[in-house]
Amino acid sequence: MKALVLSGGKGTRLRPLTFTCAKQLIPVANKPILGYVLDQVKATNIKKVGIITAPETGQFVKDYVSDGSAWSLNVTYIPQEPLGLAHAVKTARRFLGQDSFVMCLGDNVTGQGLNSFVKKFKAEGLDALIILKEVENPSSFGIAQLDEQGNIVRLVEKPKIPMGNLAIIGTYLFSNKVHQAIERIKPSWRGELEITDAIQEMINMGFKVKAEILNSWWLDTGKKDDILSANAKILDEFIQRDIKGTVTNSTIDGRVKVDLDAKIVNSTVRGPCIIGKNVLIENSFIGPYTSVGDGSKIFNSNLEYCVIQEDVVIKDVERIEDSLIGKNAKVTRNPRSRTIKLHMGDFSEVEV
Ligand code: DAU
Repeated sequence: MKALVLSGGKGTRLRPLTFTCAKQLIPVANKPILGYVLDQVKATNIKKVGIITAPETGQFVKDYVSDGSAWSLNVTYIPQEPLGLAHAVKTARRFLGQDSFVMCLGDNVTGQGLNSFVKKFKAEGLDALIILKEVENPSSFGIAQLDEQGNIVRLVEKPKIPMGNLAIIGTYLFSNKVHQAIERIKPSWRGELEITDAIQEMINMGFKVKAEILNSWWLDTGKKDDILSANAKILDEFIQRDIKGTVTNSTIDGRVKVDLDAKIVNSTVRGPCIIGKNVLIENSFIGPYTSVGDGSKIFNSNLEYCVIQEDVVIKDVERIEDSLIGKNAKVTRNPRSRTIKLHMGDFSEVEV
């Protein structure tokens, strides 16, 4: 069995961060989401992994994953124009050969890992296994309709009038029969070759397709608020108290990880939180569910429920909440003026 990890796409919903970074590389708890996906692939013992990349962001993905040895994986990069999930499988045809494979979206993480699904797929000799989770906004996802026995009746990609609320999450398992189905489908109204249509076609062709309901959390980190929820969830699940940096005249409450060479001075940090390497925090409050990336500096400010990436400067800001701040950004307040002065990238968002 092989793995195919989709790390291409356009990332339009996360601009401007995706102008200089692949969306799968946005950090949660100071680690790119793609890193968690590769951790889960590693845990299956699958060794051969194809990573789909997009022309604009492929180099960022390669710089992060390199040859895959950090995960003991043997990685093949597969460049693709983002023309749909089934198009990505088609593009990876040569890499996949006749093997079955698990396909993961590089911006989706679950609390359950992949092993139980791989086991079921093999034990039942399936041609496709999809994983479902109830959602509140079914029009934003591929949706599955099941009968009373749990068999799939119908699959529709982002239905305008949803026929249920069971979304197809970004973990799929396929036998090589998926390629026959992909050959038969046409691009959807949004111009993409949809994997949902390919799976529907597999059902129409009489192949053995099953669905399983996910019994853990699932995060699709396509938008700013999803990144903040993923950050909170991962801090909650994985962060243990571990203070490696120096703490002077400060209070560190609960599960807080302070990395090497970080300095916390005259401040309070309340967990779950992660403070990266070489971070400086002075006269500030860092509230729960905040990640501060390596090299950032925070002075005289209060933060809560934020993802602050690397080398950010925040100074004299009374309160920042629910915010995602990209690398090298600067947020400061001029105490002598009430004017807001902005220098923002295209597609930035500010709420004042
Ligand atoms: O998140 C689950 C949903 O993912 C499913 O419910 C939908 O059925 C499925 O179509 C997909 O929908 P999205 O609209 O959220 O997919 P998105 O365009 O965000 O792409 C998902 C990932 O795959 C993302 O990491 C980018 C990558 N990708 C996407 C496309 C379209 C590629 O690598 N190549 C592509 O051509």
